[in-house]
Amino acid sequence: MKVATTAGCEVATPTLAPAAPELREKIQSRTLRIGVIGLGYVGLPLATEFARAGFRVTGFDLNSEKVAQIQRGQSYIGDVASGEVSQLVEAGLLTATEDFRGLADIDAVNICVPTPLRKTKDPDLSYILAAVDQIQKHVHRGMLVILESTTYPGTTDELILPRLQENGMEVGRDFFLCFSPERVDPSNRQFHTRNIPKVVGGVTPDCTALGALYYQQAIEKVVPVSSTRVAEMVKLLENTFRSVNIGLANEMAQLCSHMSIDVWEVIEAAATKPFGFMPFYPGPGLGGHCIPVDPFYLSWKARADGTEARFIELAGLINGSMPHFVVQKIQAALNNQAKAVRNSSIHLLGVAYKRDVDDVRESPALDVLALLDQLGARVSYSDPHVPSLRFGGRQLESQPVALACRTADCVVLVTDHSAFDYKEIAESARLIIDTRNAFRAFRMDKIVKL
Ligand SMILES: NC(=O)c1ccc[n+]([C@@H]2O[C@H](COP(=O)([O-])OP(=O)(O)OC[C@H]3O[C@@H](n4cnc5c(N)ncnc54)[C@H](O)[C@@H]3O)[C@@H](O)[C@H]2O)c1
Repeated sequence: MKVATTAGCEVATPTLAPAAPELREKIQSRTLRIGVIGLGYVGLPLATEFARAGFRVTGFDLNSEKVAQIQRGQSYIGDVASGEVSQLVEAGLLTATEDFRGLADIDAVNICVPTPLRKTKDPDLSYILAAVDQIQKHVHRGMLVILESTTYPGTTDELILPRLQENGMEVGRDFFLCFSPERVDPSNRQFHTRNIPKVVGGVTPDCTALGALYYQQAIEKVVPVSSTRVAEMVKLLENTFRSVNIGLANEMAQLCSHMSIDVWEVIEAAATKPFGFMPFYPGPGLGGHCIPVDPFYLSWKARADGTEARFIELAGLINGSMPHFVVQKIQAALNNQAKAVRNSSIHLLGVAYKRDVDDVRESPALDVLALLDQLGARVSYSDPHVPSLRFGGRQLESQPVALACRTADCVVLVTDHSAFDYKEIAESARLIIDTRNAFRAFRMDKIVKL
């Protein structure tokens, strides 16, 4: 079995393990039974993509509510339509369960569980290890195991492989193990699981070749690489690239503010250069499960290896300072109106971490709310995607936009959802702090940009 890597070399296997042709035959005949562990933003779109390609897919999740919803044919992920889930469930191609004993009948299993940071900013691999413990009980000849959760280089080789080999099964001979980073971008209408190229690296050349063949059944372009470590590092480079460049844009925003220059105008003009420049934009801070988290997996690993990831640490500091910078802008704008943050009513527009999603994980809105709350402001919010929010031990409810904007002392645009009526808000609000340049079409003194 041969497969060409991006480096141009062909990875060849001199002796094919008997389990490899059997697995290849199952993949090509689409009789392969697929398991996806973790049915979240990553796992559910992946499961439906393979089911749509004609494979029988079982989703395994600890969350009984998610399992029940899938079984009822309902989706809870914006990018996956309920109509599609119900069709696939009815056709017997998609099912979900909390019972991991079903792994015994699975030929290929994708691990798509969370990889958060601990409070100390160390990687929390407990979800991966729990999933691997389940697989380990059922690992069998001809099984393909693929980790998709973002993690530091070495996780697949150093943590997962020894566990799966504990029962005497040998990788590349009895079972096959790969890492394939997930690159899904929730709410992106142009790129989704099927048309985002899939990088895959295996522990052995057979593992890579079988992993690549597997993804080729459901994904338009597959990019094999020479090892699991390369595949793990690819994802961290991509997300570090974003974090560092956003950090630069955020530093530019702070510098421009000191110099009374409009950073948005600067970036738009710089972006007219047809080569050598790619625009990144400032904002209230990083959010979501990936960009604020993943680079710290790499810096942790660098420290463990006795070295340093200086760009990552610096970008983390600058990006982490943005909620404070936003609050300074609010303070200055209120002071100009002879008001203080204390006792002012401050209304946030958008609390999700990015446009048109319902995800508030790591959202900078939470930091802005907490800072304003500490300063004695009366805080409220509107978000068409987040009806309620746990904050500081209380429950906040999303408020009707028009009334809240008319009555607040200050409105802070944190997330530029497309559902907001920017014209109406611009006309009715008394003071607007715009952290996303969402009000670019309006020139009014009461609109303060980042
Ligand atoms: N969300 C994104 O945009 C995105 C993009 C690229 C990569 N990733 C990476 O993909 C991974 C998954 O992220 P996500 O956003 O889908 O997370 P998520 O929280 O949306 O979903 C994870 C799911 O795993 C389930 N789960 C947790 N432990 C489990 C276990 N032991 N067994 C079975 N199910 C378990 C949870 O109940 C949940 O449904 C993370 O490593 C993340 O960094 C996420």
